[in-house]
Amino acid sequence: MDLGIRGKKAIINGGSAGMGKGSAIALAREGVDLIISSRGKERLENTCEEIMKETGVKVIPIVADHSTDEGREKIINACPNPDILVGTCTPPKTTPDYESITPNDWRQALEISLLSPISFMKEFIPGMVNRKWGRIVNIGTGAAKTPAEIRILSGGPRAALVNYSVAVSKKVARHNVAINNILPGMHHTAATEKTYQKLAEENGTSYDEEVIKFAKKWKIPARKFGTSQDFGDFVAMFCSEQATYVIGQSLVIDGGIDNTTF
Ligand SMILES: NC(=O)c1ccc[n+]([C@@H]2O[C@H](COP(=O)([O-])OP(=O)(O)OC[C@H]3O[C@@H](n4cnc5c(N)ncnc54)[C@H](OP(=O)(O)O)[C@@H]3O)[C@@H](O)[C@H]2O)c1
Repeated sequence: MDLGIRGKKAIINGGSAGMGKGSAIALAREGVDLIISSRGKERLENTCEEIMKETGVKVIPIVADHSTDEGREKIINACPNPDILVGTCTPPKTTPDYESITPNDWRQALEISLLSPISFMKEFIPGMVNRKWGRIVNIGTGAAKTPAEIRILSGGPRAALVNYSVAVSKKVARHNVAINNILPGMHHTAATEKTYQKLAEENGTSYDEEVIKFAKKWKIPARKFGTSQDFGDFVAMFCSEQATYVIGQSLVIDGGIDNTTF
């Protein structure tokens, strides 16, 4: 299927690894030129090189922390008029105990996973509206819909982000600007690989064994983690020409763990 977005320009904030990288690859395979941001230079440059080699699209790396005003300014200056905006970050830290969360923890989590995507949306939506074409996908978390004490810092700000983006999506849909969210459950990414590799070393097992153990313990119906590439393909679908009538949705991709009908 042709997604109809060849020649469009996309910013992927947090695109050097994990689901951001999966999204970048999927968009590049559709012929979309990319501006990819992340904090770490080396991994970012390798990712951009890899994508350019495979797809031949133009990929510009921007080393920037998008949780800061300075970082956001750098990204905006590099591409003031994107057609597509995809935003993600490393999962905010887990909190085994709600009482241990400090005001500073909240500030950090809110900056990266709520205020940053909001400020990018505010910046880019007027141009998308004027050009009568725009697609925005926020990569959030299943914990936005299904709260858990361990993921309060991840789920809380993203629940607010979903609320905000759905409200804004209604206002701009008539200008062919489609804003949607995708809420992942467990996926193989740089972040999970670090966590489960460490567990495997501690327990004398392998990464794969730890993943299966987790999937059984938490009763993930698919009994596995998702892949960043499958996830990225769904992001690209939400950025497609065909997504013009898909407005303010929050798709959960979690192997079936979310136990609701709709
Ligand atoms: N992985 C899962 O199983 C899982 C489950 C549920 C929800 N999620 C959610 O899915 C999203 C993506 O997770 P992931 O596992 O794909 O993460 P990941 O593998 O850690 O990748 C995160 C990407 O974002 C970049 N990044 C992080 N902080 C940044 C910042 N402040 N400024 C610019 N770039 C930044 C990272 O590069 P640098 O570090 O170099 O900046 C990297 O490219 C997160 O929001 C997470 O909460 C993930």
